[in-house]
Amino acid sequence: MGTPNIVYRDVVDSTNRVAHCLAGQGYPGGTTVLAEMQTAGRGRHGRSWNSSPGKGLWFSLLLRPPRTLVPAGAAALTLAVAATAAGALTAETGVPLHVKWPNDLQADGRKVAGILTEMKAEPDRIDYIIVGIGINVNQARADFPPELRDRAGSLRLAAGHSFDRPPLFLALRKTTLDACLLYFEQGFVPFHQTWKDINITLGRPVRVFRPGGYLDGTALDLDPDGALLLRDRRGRLHRLRSGELD
Ligand code: BTN
Repeated sequence: MGTPNIVYRDVVDSTNRVAHCLAGQGYPGGTTVLAEMQTAGRGRHGRSWNSSPGKGLWFSLLLRPPRTLVPAGAAALTLAVAATAAGALTAETGVPLHVKWPNDLQADGRKVAGILTEMKAEPDRIDYIIVGIGINVNQARADFPPELRDRAGSLRLAAGHSFDRPPLFLALRKTTLDACLLYFEQGFVPFHQTWKDINITLGRPVRVFRPGGYLDGTALDLDPDGALLLRDRRGRLHRLRSGELD
């Protein structure tokens, strides 16, 4: 991937959107867009992502995978990045982080970070991938809008003190970029056990929201290719690649 560029902006609408623009301009794989503030941070399923200025880390990695990786093969990249980022954050801060399928990082039952993976692709060929990572670092409870206060957390809330963000960013950028390269070479297999070791999804009753409805059941296992195995209330098994848990 060469030497990764870091493109820093004080304010952007969304680092993912800026990364898409840079991809169109030919920036190389490894380019990282970092912003102090996002005015229209994007979350999964068309939701917005609260990105208060000066408190978190909001960045996007531009990835140019090898031609051998087809769109379906990228399905578990988000899980690989989630497991890697959780491990790196725990190592850097001492805060135990857990992964909740498919893309949440949680501490003390509250969401501390999320990952939004987007790509430009044709059915058989990926042009590029953007992995957007949002980490709540130094927010106090009052920094979150009232509707998020019950569910959102930060590293500061979990640890009881604040953190210096630049070293955290540099560590996270390196470990997640390295993880993406490993994923491009070997798929999800090297991340499978790590994800299972720190997950808070398996063995629990879950409600999975999918387009057009939801499914209640028990999360049984995670396949080596990243699919969630769920047994519904009638005993039927489902292999899920995407969705949203309650
Ligand atoms: C989610 O959990 O819904 C995913 C949230 C992803 C947020 C990050 S912040 C940096 C990057 N830029 C965006 O607009 N979104 C991602």
